[in-house]
Amino acid sequence: MIKHNFSAGPSVLPKSVMEKASEAVLNFDNGLSILEISHRSKSFVDVMENARSLALELLGLEGKGYKALFLQGGASTQFLMVALNLLEKRAGYLNSGTWADKAIKEAKIYDDIYEVASSKNANYNYIPKGYDIPEDYDYFHCTSNNTIFGTQMKNFPKSPIPMVCDMSSDIFSRHIDYSQFDLIYAGAQKNMGPAGTTLVIIKEDILGKVSRKIPSMMDYKTHISKGSMFNTPPVFAVYTSMLTLEWLKNLGGVKAIEEANDKKSRLIYSEIDLNPLFKGYAVKEDRSMMNATFTLENENLKETFDAMCLEAGISGINGHRSVGGYRASMYNALSLDSVKALVEVMSELESKA
Ligand SMILES: Cc1ncc(COP(=O)(O)O)c(C=O)c1O
Repeated sequence: MIKHNFSAGPSVLPKSVMEKASEAVLNFDNGLSILEISHRSKSFVDVMENARSLALELLGLEGKGYKALFLQGGASTQFLMVALNLLEKRAGYLNSGTWADKAIKEAKIYDDIYEVASSKNANYNYIPKGYDIPEDYDYFHCTSNNTIFGTQMKNFPKSPIPMVCDMSSDIFSRHIDYSQFDLIYAGAQKNMGPAGTTLVIIKEDILGKVSRKIPSMMDYKTHISKGSMFNTPPVFAVYTSMLTLEWLKNLGGVKAIEEANDKKSRLIYSEIDLNPLFKGYAVKEDRSMMNATFTLENENLKETFDAMCLEAGISGINGHRSVGGYRASMYNALSLDSVKALVEVMSELESKA
């Protein structure tokens, strides 16, 4: 049976990528597996270089003073690395979701954090807007897509200070001006590859401005100077990410994928709005193209709906415990057919109820 994988992450990857990655586990280079070759071998160094340059190329950041790194420790480690490397006195954070809240908590260990705005009181069902970013702060941090609540920033503020963005759940999904950010980070396991590596894109000139001593592994400069090979990188995760980035480039890059993502999200949101059995969670103007969150108006239908989803091969749509209901994650590799399958089940439920 065809599986429709709506998992929030780790999540669906292109089939061709998984086939190539599987082949490489058995034979990557002259009979040797990607899992057993040295990360210093020419064949892997080429993979790392290719992955780093593809990331910059796809985001339109080549030749603009940015470096791309594939690090470990997940996006969660970036919460503290950002603060260690950039926070001298005070930073401004937009509190738009659980992950933003966690980033604030980590940064507070090091110095003073000011929440420029927060939607916590509304259980993060919208993106705060109309706030000021103080000019004398070290940096401003935001989260482009709030995976748990299904909200997404459609516009970014004009920041007078370096802008840092957690793009874990929507990087490479849309065509925006990525050069408005000075530091972008994203765990690979949603739009790029398997869990195990985190892409970090940094404008080099924002570094070297804090007075604290930074442990080598936590220092972006260390990783930049060593070409993202200071220690043994997660070779399989980097290789698979490179394959996904190649796949995206062949599709036509972020412009082409944005069109596809737009179609998928229009389809699901129009069903949520037209079908009286369902209710969207996020306010309409801030709805995420990646994660659609919704609830059943009548909880008694849950068992029937879940059974119908199972029958149709739909998996991974349970909502996060802090929101409840359902969450359909529609990352780059999820096909329009999968969204059609879910929408069909939703409308079938309406005709049955
Ligand atoms: C927006 C966002 N930031 C950060 C994280 C944490 O990522 P990791 O598990 O790689 O530390 C997640 C995980 O889902 C996320 O969605």
